[in-house]
Amino acid sequence: MENKSVLVLGAGELGLPVIRNLAQKAKKNNTIITVLLRHATIESEEFVKKRNIDELKALGVELLAADLSAPSSELVSIFKNFDAVVSCTGYGSGAGGFQLKLARAVLEAGVKRYFPWQFGVDFEIIGRGSAQDIFDEQLDVRELLRSQSATKWVIISTGMFTSYLFEPFFGVVDFDKKVVNALGSLDTAVTVTTPEDIGRLTAEIFFEEPVIENSIVYIGGDTITYRQLGDVIESLSGQKFECTVSDLEELGNDLKSDPTNFVKKYRSIFGDGRGVSWKFNTTFNFQKGIKTTSAREWAEKNIDWSLCNYF
Ligand SMILES: NC(=O)c1ccc[n+]([C@@H]2O[C@H](COP(=O)([O-])OP(=O)(O)OC[C@H]3O[C@@H](n4cnc5c(N)ncnc54)[C@H](OP(=O)(O)O)[C@@H]3O)[C@@H](O)[C@H]2O)c1
Repeated sequence: MENKSVLVLGAGELGLPVIRNLAQKAKKNNTIITVLLRHATIESEEFVKKRNIDELKALGVELLAADLSAPSSELVSIFKNFDAVVSCTGYGSGAGGFQLKLARAVLEAGVKRYFPWQFGVDFEIIGRGSAQDIFDEQLDVRELLRSQSATKWVIISTGMFTSYLFEPFFGVVDFDKKVVNALGSLDTAVTVTTPEDIGRLTAEIFFEEPVIENSIVYIGGDTITYRQLGDVIESLSGQKFECTVSDLEELGNDLKSDPTNFVKKYRSIFGDGRGVSWKFNTTFNFQKGIKTTSAREWAEKNIDWSLCNYF
């Protein structure tokens, strides 16, 4: 399998750590990494974007200006020049065919290896018609990739970003009220991984020998129940937290009253508990003995426990 020229699509929250780690390994593997970003992003004067572009330049990766919303024929002519494409676009323009369009262009361009943007939960166990309608397109992409053999593919299942467990918008931990609100039940589990670990492990999986192909690789920083999360929070804060439960009925009613709410869709999926966790000892990182960040370690480092505040 040739992995000599790799195109990474996007360099956001997930893409940057992926690129950092690919770039590091690329030097040893005689591989050139190119990052596709919109022209306006590459030339942006906005502080964060400019800092990220400077970092990419310092990493020695090539920058390629293009917009993925361009017609497919333009994407095909770009993708043709690469052995492998790693998509870190996020949901891009949302539902409505963006992920499928990218996958089709990758296949038409004859790219040898594709890592689609599927860094999330187990869409197959969750199935079609779930609360999160954009998951159906992720399943369409899987069907398309499986329907052919010319392009080898790798899907990396990561669970949720670890930070989400603690972020106020997700409604699980309320530091002011001292409440841990379980989604589904106290014994419902969730697998979480930090973007930094996803970046590290994506690069490991990319360059793994023998080459990984046509596989779904499960990774994880932690698999934790909401009851265990409550214990972690009490132990780090030294304070008592009340454990409450938003059961499936409550989560369903929440969503019914606000059916387009992206976070409520996710809360409903996580409350259901199917496809959102896997046993830690089945993960690629566990089996390879690669250390990842647990929920406790993440919280210890990123939360101001003296104020008991998420920041
Ligand atoms: N498992 C999880 O829980 C999980 C996994 C992945 C992502 N997420 C969440 O989902 C959100 C997305 O994260 P992310 O890193 O995947 O995405 P992101 O931070 O939004 O980054 C997306 C990247 O793709 C680029 N991009 C988007 N549309 C493009 C287009 N049409 N043409 C060229 N480039 C384009 C963006 O460039 P611009 O700067 O030009 O927009 C950006 O570099 C984050 O809030 C993250 O927390 C969660």
